[in-house]
Order: sequence, then structure tokens, then C-alpha cells
Amino acid sequence: MIEDVTQDPAIAEVVIDEARLQARIGELGAQIARDYAWKNPVLVGILRGSIMFVADLLRQLDIPASLDLLAISSYSGRDSSGVVRLIKDLDHPIEGKHVLLVEDIIDTGLTLNYVLRSLRTRSPASLEVCTLLSKPARRLIDLPVRYVGFEIPDVFVVGYGLDYNQRYRNLPFLGALRVGA
Ligand code: IMP
Ligand code: MG
Repeated sequence: MIEDVTQDPAIAEVVIDEARLQARIGELGAQIARDYAWKNPVLVGILRGSIMFVADLLRQLDIPASLDLLAISSYSGRDSSGVVRLIKDLDHPIEGKHVLLVEDIIDTGLTLNYVLRSLRTRSPASLEVCTLLSKPARRLIDLPVRYVGFEIPDVFVVGYGLDYNQRYRNLPFLGALRVGA
């Protein structure tokens, strides 16, 4: 039997549907294109959760821009371990470049804090953050975030790149995971 993830009983509800996601990404893309005209920004996607977002955001930029990726690991299950590991570094130096870090979700802020500290030491011309989602209620570290797609309440969301134990990344929308699932 083919499993239909959109009908999975572990998904309690749709939090942000595909149309709303894409509309907001269009707005973010337009804003970033204005702010970064002539700056040739490097979008740095944080693997794996931000892959859908960084791909769609890049598609919305009608200015020259490049892409690099880094991979970190901070979570197992629902809770941040607080320990962040760099699994894959950037492929290219960012010294003197305008870097826009693209994240799926900022929860406690621990992950982003680690990544920002690491990238700052490489002397980029500028370093800003664009996150699709933010859960302000959970923040432990206050960080400067220039672009936020949606602020959401303290619910664990999956889909559109975000996972729960590596599942549900393939959903085209953001759904809330049923408590106890
Ligand atoms: P932070 O270090 O607590 O800010 O966690 C950031 C990372 O945790 C994100 O990049 C996600 O990979 C993961 N994360 C946080 N909240 C959620 C969620 O609701 N669903 C899926 N992943 C999440
Ligand atoms: Mg992530």
C-alpha cells in the first residue's frame, strides 16, 4: 500500500498551507532583492531543514545571487540537545561577501547563535538572517533576525523540509505534529 503522508493521523492540523507559504516567500524574495540589489549576496542554507525554503527563496530573487550550504545537527526528536555539530562546512570562502543565512525555524536560538559565531570569524562584508519560521516564546538567546516569514506559537511543526525523526520533510505544507505521536 502506498502511504499518503497528507492523511497521516500524526498530523493534527495544517498550520500554514502551501499557497500561504509560497505567497510569503514571494514577498520575502522581493524585499531581499531590493535590499541586496548590486550586492551579489550568497544565500547560505542550513541543511537539512531549510532546503525547500532556500530553493524557493532563491527562485524568487531576480538579482544575481549565489548559493552555498552548510549542515549542522542539533536535534534528536523534539528537543534541542543544546549541542550543535558542524557536519558539512561551506564550499567557498565568504570573506568580503554579503551573506544571508537561510534557516527553516528559530526555536531556542542556540543553533543560529553557533552558526553566526562561526561565520562572523570569516569576515563577511555583511551577515544577516532570513528564517521561514520563528517561535519567539521559546527563545533563549536573542539574535538579530532581519527577515522572518511567519511567527508561530509553541507547536512542533513538520513538513516543507522540517522533520520529526527524519520524517515528514516531503509534505508541501506545514503541519502540527499530534502530541504523543
Ligand atoms: P534551536 O537551536 O532551538 O533554535 O533549533 C533550531 C533547529 O531545530 C531548527 O533549525 C530545526 O531544525 C529544529 N526545530 C526547531 N523547532 C522545530 C519544529 O517545530 N519542527 C521541526 N524542527 C524544529
Ligand atoms: Mg535546522
